[in-house]
Amino acid sequence: MTQPGKRSHRPSRPQRSHPPKRPATPDRPPVDDPARRAALDTLRAVRADDAYANLVLPRLLRERRITGRDAALATELAYGTCRAWGLLDEILAECVDRPLGKVEPVLLDALRLGAYQLLRTRIPAHAAVASTVDIVRRDLGPRVTGFANAVLRKVSERDEAGWLTSVAPTLEEDPVGHLAARTSHPRWIARAFADALGTTGDDLAAALQADDERPAVHLVARPGEVTAEELAAMTGGDPAPYSPYGVRLEPGSGDPADLDPIRERLAGVQDEGSQLCAVALTRAPLEGSDLRWLDLCAGPGGKAALLGALAGINGGTLDAVEPAPHRARLVEQATQGQPVTIHVADGREPGLTGGFDRVLVDAPCTGLGALRRRPESRWRRRPEDVGDLTKLQSELLTSALELVRPGGLVAYVVCSPHLSETEGVISSVVRKTDATVLDARPHFDGVPDLGEGPYVQLWPHRHGTDAMFFALLRR
Ligand SMILES: C[S@@+](CC[C@H](N)C(=O)[O-])C[C@H]1O[C@@H](n2cnc3c(N)ncnc32)[C@H](O)[C@@H]1O
Repeated sequence: MTQPGKRSHRPSRPQRSHPPKRPATPDRPPVDDPARRAALDTLRAVRADDAYANLVLPRLLRERRITGRDAALATELAYGTCRAWGLLDEILAECVDRPLGKVEPVLLDALRLGAYQLLRTRIPAHAAVASTVDIVRRDLGPRVTGFANAVLRKVSERDEAGWLTSVAPTLEEDPVGHLAARTSHPRWIARAFADALGTTGDDLAAALQADDERPAVHLVARPGEVTAEELAAMTGGDPAPYSPYGVRLEPGSGDPADLDPIRERLAGVQDEGSQLCAVALTRAPLEGSDLRWLDLCAGPGGKAALLGALAGINGGTLDAVEPAPHRARLVEQATQGQPVTIHVADGREPGLTGGFDRVLVDAPCTGLGALRRRPESRWRRRPEDVGDLTKLQSELLTSALELVRPGGLVAYVVCSPHLSETEGVISSVVRKTDATVLDARPHFDGVPDLGEGPYVQLWPHRHGTDAMFFALLRR
């Protein structure tokens, strides 16, 4: 995990009543605290092992049989701390008398957890400090409890707004940097969102804030197996507003893997934005043959399963390419019983005979459009990732344009609004080929706020979907 660069603002006067001084009590037995313990172990795995919080925490909760209010608290603390990581580090850096890199990493994890509770929860300050000091005592012994206590007491001297006046630039001097700090995003990501939205105002603030919201679970009804209305009735969800196959469940409706239609493979879990992109490719009008479809980046198979079902209904076939063998196996599982052939190959040279009628390039990307699903990912991604990815994205799109027949259609999709990954890739490839960019918006039936076109950029704060980008090209 990265630490965002420090800014040169000093703390101002206290703005919050801080907890009463509490002497370090090295001989007091530590209290058992399964929720904070699970949250802290998650933070450690994220920092030390590059783990994903949303995979580690559910496993810990299961293994330790943590349920109910403790599970809810562990989730809030682990995910919340991951999201606020960079901001918490900036604040802690103001409260520690040495560079954060010199603080024992395990101790720093605990300080982040304590600072999060102080600044972003309603947990009383004395409880946030005492519980963190207890954990520090248990893990590291009494030698650093005084230090942890002193740092957290200093954090508790102000609320988040108070700290922001020290660690964030003002709205006037740097609107993007200000919003980035206020919503706890690295500045380069806030800049990328601002560039895509064309604003540094309220719309940008809403887009960044949406990354902290818990997304609803979206299901996709497998065409030919069940309708969205039937699936909604079976699951207690609501038909999705835009996708003809989508159902939205309330956040917190439990693990969708336990639902009968998912177990029976009548439906899958898939963001509505992803569904819309797959459906848009199939709906765009095409003259001539329309039987051979290709998914050039298929793993783990969400869009392939939807395309495979629709290809089958039309009497066509789908070829699905995926270089990672374990992901290719997931495509195989997702498309069982469909007219789908899987190729474990690099999409840039898959060794397939060309002449496909419709090709999907759902390219590897930064995933900046799905930050709400991965609490730590905003701090893990780096601006340098973008260059390598855009090269691969351009090569995959070029390959797709070679594999599609003259007159055939190619959809280029990424789960990112970053302009280099979206419009930048399209313009660099189109310049070198005879492809034409088509207006994609008419194939997103009923979806509002699609802007000037010809591309479609979905947004969590506008559409409740991931921020998927879709471009449609004709060779
Ligand atoms: C965004 S994901 C695709 C998601 C998938 N279409 C779905 O809906 O489930 C990108 C996929 O591209 C694969 N990939 C990476 N490099 C590739 C390459 N050179 N050729 C083809 N696919 C590649 C990744 O392994 C990953 O599975």
